[in-house]
Amino acid sequence: MASLKDKIDLQRLPRHIAIIMDGNGRWATEKGQDRLYGHFHGVESVRDIVEGCAELGIGYLTLYAFSTENWDRPAYEVTGLMELLVETIRNEVETLNKNNIKLHVIGDMNMLPEYAKKELNEALEITSRNTGLNLVMALSYSSRWELVEAVKHIAQDVSRGVLDPETIDQKILQHYLCTSEFPDPELMIRTSGEYRISNFLLYQLAYAELYFTHVRWPDFRKENLYEAILDFQGRERRFGRTGEQLKQEISL
Ligand code: IPE
Ligand code: IPE
Ligand code: MG
Repeated sequence: MASLKDKIDLQRLPRHIAIIMDGNGRWATEKGQDRLYGHFHGVESVRDIVEGCAELGIGYLTLYAFSTENWDRPAYEVTGLMELLVETIRNEVETLNKNNIKLHVIGDMNMLPEYAKKELNEALEITSRNTGLNLVMALSYSSRWELVEAVKHIAQDVSRGVLDPETIDQKILQHYLCTSEFPDPELMIRTSGEYRISNFLLYQLAYAELYFTHVRWPDFRKENLYEAILDFQGRERRFGRTGEQLKQEISL
């Protein structure tokens, strides 16, 4: 069967794709199963999409895996998710390494249980010298948390005399975000039919193309990713200018 992959223009790939992996709970409930069953199957989608991005040559993939607000879920689900995270990292780290994938984590790592922090730090170290796909896991992450942290650090540096407030511009602010090493996402995908951002990369998504699909995360596969990329490639990204200006630039 022909794949949508063949239609993708490899010269115009989004440099950075960010995904809100949503719908695991409903996927499981619809099957008469426990929510954790949905999270468990969501890992298969993560594997498939990471592989798909690596094969295409995407530079950065950020996956929203657990938000600051998700700590308020029932303890049973939170514990199940932490255990799944540790088990997945343990099982996958070798494959990540073999595929030259570099793992990064953004979020409030201090909130994570010790055993999860330890596993993650090991995986970060093991993959730290890889030069292929940058896989960014947003864990215990929320944009408002990140912005408050950034403001706190800026204020500390100003009071220590190492930062002159007059020099603060967008580049300096970017330096204080936990995404300082990464370009802004160009394509943001949310699965499961919800049309909201849920505290994800509010600053960095300023000019991202947004793509929403009803597909629940555990059903999301490479073909769905290709569909989103093709949709992205059909958009006119104007960054405030007019369509005519863009056409003129192309013809120059
Ligand atoms: C996304 O699926 C995974 C996490 C937030 C950890 P959900 O667990 O939010 O699934 P729904 O939205 O309840 O279906
Ligand atoms: C957003 O999904 C967070 C993750 C996918 C990790 P939620 O399911 O927590 O978001 P809301 O509560 O529906 O906005
Ligand atoms: Mg959800």
